Amino acid sequence: MACADKKKYVTLHVKACIKLSNDFIKVRGGKIGLIMATFIEQLAQMHGTPLERRKKLSNTIELPKPKRLVPQHIQDLKAYQPGRPASKLKRDLGIDQFINLASNENPLGPPETVIEAVRLASSEIHRYPESGGAILKEALANKYDLWEENVAIGSGSESIMANIIRAFVHGSDEIVTSEGTFIGFYVLVGSHGVKLKTVPLKDYHFDLDGLADAVTNKTKLIYLCNPNNPTGTIYSREEFEAFMRKVPEHVLVIVDEAYFEFTMGMPQFPDSMIYRHDNVLTLRTFSKAFGMAGIRLGYGLGHDYLINFVNRVKLPFEPNNLAQAAGVAALTDTEYLRKTLENNDKGMRLIASAFDELGLRYVDSYANFMMVPFGSAEKVKDLHEKLLRQGVAIRPLHAFGLPDCFRVTIGLPEENETFIQALKKCL
Ligand SMILES: Cc1ncc(COP(=O)(O)O)c(C=O)c1O
Repeated sequence: MACADKKKYVTLHVKACIKLSNDFIKVRGGKIGLIMATFIEQLAQMHGTPLERRKKLSNTIELPKPKRLVPQHIQDLKAYQPGRPASKLKRDLGIDQFINLASNENPLGPPETVIEAVRLASSEIHRYPESGGAILKEALANKYDLWEENVAIGSGSESIMANIIRAFVHGSDEIVTSEGTFIGFYVLVGSHGVKLKTVPLKDYHFDLDGLADAVTNKTKLIYLCNPNNPTGTIYSREEFEAFMRKVPEHVLVIVDEAYFEFTMGMPQFPDSMIYRHDNVLTLRTFSKAFGMAGIRLGYGLGHDYLINFVNRVKLPFEPNNLAQAAGVAALTDTEYLRKTLENNDKGMRLIASAFDELGLRYVDSYANFMMVPFGSAEKVKDLHEKLLRQGVAIRPLHAFGLPDCFRVTIGLPEENETFIQALKKCL
């Protein structure tokens, strides 16, 4: 037999042995299974493809059943489902161009000032980040006329949200929020194993009266989201003021203002930082208007007494040193923010008039996305798939508890136009 043929013969033979042994383990398991697993591993190490050479940790010990190993609330947890990455969608659908209007990111791309700051900071990535984040905290404190002690920073505002729950909520404490709000918050509460009480939306708006009425002596925390993701709606100043009069002072209120920059300055929008209530923790992010979702940077503002505890439970070295430098640079880049808001206004007007033309009802939005009630979950699913095949991703909202709605992020002018044309074809 020629040398090449011999090699082929041995490889085939070994592959057959690996398959046989795998099948055997599936059937028999137990001790013989373990011996066979070791045998397979040795064979694979000598002759297998990279995939076959991977060690099968699952074959080495018998783990206890989930009942004993995994707390019930973790067994019940539905993990956050992000959209499929663009590269995977392109490959799966066989398309070259793909527009992601599903994740409320900034379509302008990262600010140049931030790219430069990250480039400079990258010479220090062999060092641990400056753990207190003093420079970024000082910049944020200056921006809001606060002390550094009033500022918490983290890897995304979601990380600070998690730290607030970890720091303050335990045992039989309860959390109150609305239905149809930011899905990440539900996941965090679920992973913490505490009781969550939800109040229905009222015509796609937070029902602040309903939330205040849902408070009991067990309530530790209320979560508000303004503007709300995924509806895009806001509650007004009057509503917020009346709500804060009703909420007992010992109940903490998270006001998630991830989309703050898109609505700041509007007279009816209650900027939570103007009120400075001692029991309110405001969350904001660099992920949206600042175009930095991938770098993971967010911040929380509040009473130093509360922020101190939030910082105690935080992982010591987050956010990383690139994110800290990026944040400091982003705060100075008012031109990028101006362009972002301008693009968003124009895009929202264009999409709204296309919806009007098509006779589609949409919810008035104060953020960088719009929500459309579309009749039924089936219709949304169908539209989502059809748009994907045309290279446009929108967000169906079944996971947010709004199965008959979809959300679309405002893109660049040409992306909005592509979305509108694709939508017209689908309808
Ligand atoms: C309302 C809301 N809060 C928080 C976040 C998470 O922001 P970050 O990227 O800062 O963790 C999002 C992201 O989509 C959001 O929509």
